[in-house]
Amino acid sequence: MEAFDLYSPAIDENPFPYYAELREKHPCYWSESAGIYILSRYDDIVRAGQDWETFSSTGGNLIDELPNRAGATLGTTDPPRHDRLRALAQAAFMRKNLQALTAPAEELAEAALDRILARGSFEYVEDFSSQITVGLLFRVMGLPDIDHSDLRRKVILSISTDKAVKGRNQTHIDAFSWIRGFLSEEVAKRRRDPKDDLITHLAEAEIDGDRLTEREIEMTTATFVMAGVESLSSFMSVFALNLHDYPDARRRVVADVGLIAPAIEESLRFNTSAQRFKRTVAKEVELHGVSLKPGDKVALAYGSGNRDWRKFASPDVYEIERRPQGHLGFGTGKHFCLGSQMARMVTEISMRCFLKRIPEYHLTGEKLMWNSSSNFRSPVALPMAVGKIS
Ligand code: HEM
Repeated sequence: MEAFDLYSPAIDENPFPYYAELREKHPCYWSESAGIYILSRYDDIVRAGQDWETFSSTGGNLIDELPNRAGATLGTTDPPRHDRLRALAQAAFMRKNLQALTAPAEELAEAALDRILARGSFEYVEDFSSQITVGLLFRVMGLPDIDHSDLRRKVILSISTDKAVKGRNQTHIDAFSWIRGFLSEEVAKRRRDPKDDLITHLAEAEIDGDRLTEREIEMTTATFVMAGVESLSSFMSVFALNLHDYPDARRRVVADVGLIAPAIEESLRFNTSAQRFKRTVAKEVELHGVSLKPGDKVALAYGSGNRDWRKFASPDVYEIERRPQGHLGFGTGKHFCLGSQMARMVTEISMRCFLKRIPEYHLTGEKLMWNSSSNFRSPVALPMAVGKIS
């Protein structure tokens, strides 16, 4: 087969035919360019995702990891350290009832829609999905009023890879350092002046006298910023794209808003934004005749497991009433997404507001551009216009 190269634009654009070949012919495939094995079958991914003693996260979960991140935050630690971080982060997260986000999410969506409808044409990622996700993040975290677009640009750079160097370049690393520096100042401010926001709740979270250290608060906050801005706005954009590409599904959702929730689950299966995450082999193990040694890198290709016919019938069909049990859109095992309920809720509210006011929309660009990333899949921009194609 043509090499499965994580730095190829074809994989950013449409990894699914490549995954199909991997699953059938090379279920434990060595990808030379990234120096990583790729697990593509549903059962293998679930087994590896749950067996953290063999497939460790301490080497980081980003395929091209960022400096100082491995071993320091939720996605990059194993139990017992991970259990402790997760319990403390969850305690902070749970202090704000999710329902308290409903009104702000609606408010942000309606304000974005007022601006969009005043113009008629818009760019979905910048003008809609990011307005809501970044706007909510600033409120939940109590961040000062800096340029939202600039923060989003830095988050995108932090999850991007450079095809020329097959990995990170200095711009990506600098963007992440800037985010860390910015958040570290915010954490210090909350220590001096506690507020009713997520950063303060992280700083105050305590279980049996145990608290997060300063660095853990900063790195956990950075994880929330990256996930809240990138994973969520990218997923919302992919969801809007699915409803564009499958107009019958969109019409059914417009006619019955009760179908939005199952349509979201199907999009998380069909093409989640979080396509692949890394693990590092901690104990020798054999898979499909390949002997994996301690230190070897392995990518759990969640996006591929979601299209495995062994688990999901007719996996390449987008069927909004499929209700796919056990899909991997939010991962599996100990590192299952901490923000899954929030992500579902924000997507549902935003899309309900959007479809009510814009039941018909169409893409206006020639060709979609996809961000370059070894982990994530997200459109750079979705230029659109209100109404049917005339
Ligand atoms: C639709 C949007 C989202 C998708 C598709 C998504 C997907 C994922 C996936 C696949 C993982 C597993 C990573 C791994 O296996 O190493 C993960 C972990 C995580 N996600 Fe999300 N996520 C989304 C939104 C969010 C949001 C909004 C937040 C919080 C603000 C969040 C916070 C986290 C955290 C903290 C982890 C690490 C959990 C741990 O390691 O214990 N995510 N996410």
